[in-house]
Amino acid sequence: MSDIQQLVYASRATFQPTDNGGGVEPEVARILMQSRRNNPRRGLVGALYYGDGCFFQCLEGPPGEIDTLYQQLMKDPRHRDLTVLRRQFIGATSFAGWSMKYVPAATDVQTLLALHGKDRFDPYRFDDELLEAMVTLLHRRSDGDDLNPMPATTGARPGKPVPALQPAVRRRSLGTRLAWVALAVAAVAVVALLLR
Ligand SMILES: Cc1cc2nc3c(=O)[nH]c(=O)nc-3n(C[C@H](O)[C@H](O)[C@H](O)COP(=O)(O)O)c2cc1C
Repeated sequence: MSDIQQLVYASRATFQPTDNGGGVEPEVARILMQSRRNNPRRGLVGALYYGDGCFFQCLEGPPGEIDTLYQQLMKDPRHRDLTVLRRQFIGATSFAGWSMKYVPAATDVQTLLALHGKDRFDPYRFDDELLEAMVTLLHRRSDGDDLNPMPATTGARPGKPVPALQPAVRRRSLGTRLAWVALAVAAVAVVALLLR
């Protein structure tokens, strides 16, 4: 069996949202800085979403480290009503490279909620399908590092992007390489035809 666990939980923020024109909440920014400082040495990765006063966090890593962090999280006065939504063993982490990816509240979350007949982000009322869809969205969003890109597997400092580790960039460069290979094969085929 794999020794990597995934824990997804919801909680309610205890702080009042600031009127910052849709930017990242200062308290959330502080949480991300702490996470990005601590998680790499614990072998933890994951993603955090904050919307409508609720947190939705997905943590992945060794079960003991997840337990230790969760105990700490339960004592953190910046949120309350922590509720584990899912805990399971997974084959491998799907957030490799992200000590804590931040996914800002965005239209695709609103679209997902609307598809499920919800008008606000209330993870306590998520059914299994919506929970799975939300975790998938956290994985897929490639713009998750708009605050402090700090991939877990490097000692990169906050604010310093490491493009080689960003999934979207990796996907794009693979696509470009495949296109070049296809072009080369087509060129060889044309030359072979002309020489016949
Ligand atoms: C919603 C939420 C998510 C958090 N996520 C993490 C996390 O992933 N890793 C972490 O180390 N601390 C996280 N924290 C902060 C911890 O509760 C705790 O304050 C921190 O680990 C203490 O770190 P320090 O001793 O380095 O200051 C989170 C706090 C909140 C409110």
